[in-house]
Amino acid sequence: MYCTRKLTEDIYWIGGSDRRLSRFENIFPIPRGVSYNSYVILDEKTVLLDTVDYSVSRQFIKNLEHTLKGRTLDYIVINHMEPDHCAVIGDILMRYPQATVIGNAKTFNMIDQFYENMQYKKMTVAEGDTISIGKHSLRFIMAPMVHWPETMVTFEESSGILFSADAFGTFGALDGIIFADEVDFDRDWLDDARRYYTNIVGKYGVQVQALLKKASALNIKMLAPLHGPVWRKDIEYILDKYNKWSTYEPEDKAIMIAYASMYGNTENMVNALACMLAEDGINNIRIYDISGTDVSTLISEAFRVSHIVLACPTYNGNMYPVMESFIGDMKALNLQNRTVALMDNGTWAATASGKMAAALEAMKNISILDKRFSVKSALKTSQAEELEAFKDAIKASME
Ligand code: FEO
Repeated sequence: MYCTRKLTEDIYWIGGSDRRLSRFENIFPIPRGVSYNSYVILDEKTVLLDTVDYSVSRQFIKNLEHTLKGRTLDYIVINHMEPDHCAVIGDILMRYPQATVIGNAKTFNMIDQFYENMQYKKMTVAEGDTISIGKHSLRFIMAPMVHWPETMVTFEESSGILFSADAFGTFGALDGIIFADEVDFDRDWLDDARRYYTNIVGKYGVQVQALLKKASALNIKMLAPLHGPVWRKDIEYILDKYNKWSTYEPEDKAIMIAYASMYGNTENMVNALACMLAEDGINNIRIYDISGTDVSTLISEAFRVSHIVLACPTYNGNMYPVMESFIGDMKALNLQNRTVALMDNGTWAATASGKMAAALEAMKNISILDKRFSVKSALKTSQAEELEAFKDAIKASME
């Protein structure tokens, strides 16, 4: 049976949720699943905005047929060509061969890349082009590299809905809800929204800023992304998050301690540091064992906090391999404007801090504290004063 929600009297969500997929893009764990959003506008002409992933295609086609109620489909707008949204274009065109596909020049290049010999009617649009479909009209706004080159967004002028492609999306299946104000977003969704943004779009802050600037000129009443809830209230909340994330400004004055430990001695070192910080009134601390935490969570946290403590053993004369991977991901995703403190451990020779510093120096606007902390094999009580001084340096950097 169909499963749809109304955004307005004549604009519908017709997507679906996948709770079976374990990893989005075969990389990112999604224990709460993911939704693939698609929308229909009914007017003198009928319009489908994006399709869905193949996994929810049966539900999607039922939803589309129910919503059209026997009418034909006039237009298919393709805002984004990644297969979690474009997988069903061919199936839809087989059912509605008279539909005109609307996209930009890059969209059609990608359709040719993903599909073989597909015959269909096309309408190529460019920045600012509009079409009227009756009382609704659609304006097309290019959003290159948010997060693919062909990405565009579509603004429906009469309702003020911005169909925003992946922008403002989040991991998480929709449990019947469709609006962000139907859930406790801050409590239940924000972490997944941040993890989605930072890992998938995080590298492209400049391009997100360009889109936010274009969006600020529109009278937006609703943000309708391709994943997760639709925003119709408190839109400033999510715009503010996007502004911080895309300018690489921390959300919270907080410390993330990311450590790797082979036998528990490096773990003891970071626990002792955390106790000293908390004893001194700094309580906004989270500790992560990076060997057991998915790197997408580590990246999300690194975007959230102002301060990062990295601690690991020396391994084959280098930093511990998972630390190298974490720092590599931070660099790949363009993380900036953070203060980092370094701790290492070495039974033969402690060289990990130097290696971590060299890797961090290749990133933009990362401030590495001069004071570092190192142990040989295991932390001893005789180093308590030295650890206090290291804690004091972190505290001073937060003031
Ligand atoms: Fe949800 Fe970039 O695809």
